[in-house]
Amino acid sequence: MFVCSCFGVTDQQIKEHAAAGACTPRQIASVSKAGTDCGSCVRTIQGLLGRGGCPRRALVEQGGAALTGTPLSEAA
Ligand code: FES
Repeated sequence: MFVCSCFGVTDQQIKEHAAAGACTPRQIASVSKAGTDCGSCVRTIQGLLGRGGCPRRALVEQGGAALTGTPLSEAA
């Protein structure tokens, strides 16, 4: 399924980028351009990233302090 029709980026590609470490719509945009034209796909990309599409985000949410050595309240 195409998520970004402006650049022909699919949900599978978004998931692959997320698995490789792109955990925000901005990072997805930098690797695939998705979301950088009309912007109508950004919410869909956010949804994909928020639904377990990003392993690193899941790790951070589970134990950010242990993972980074910085409490999440200070990391933001
Ligand atoms: S559909 Fe993704 S930028 Fe337009």
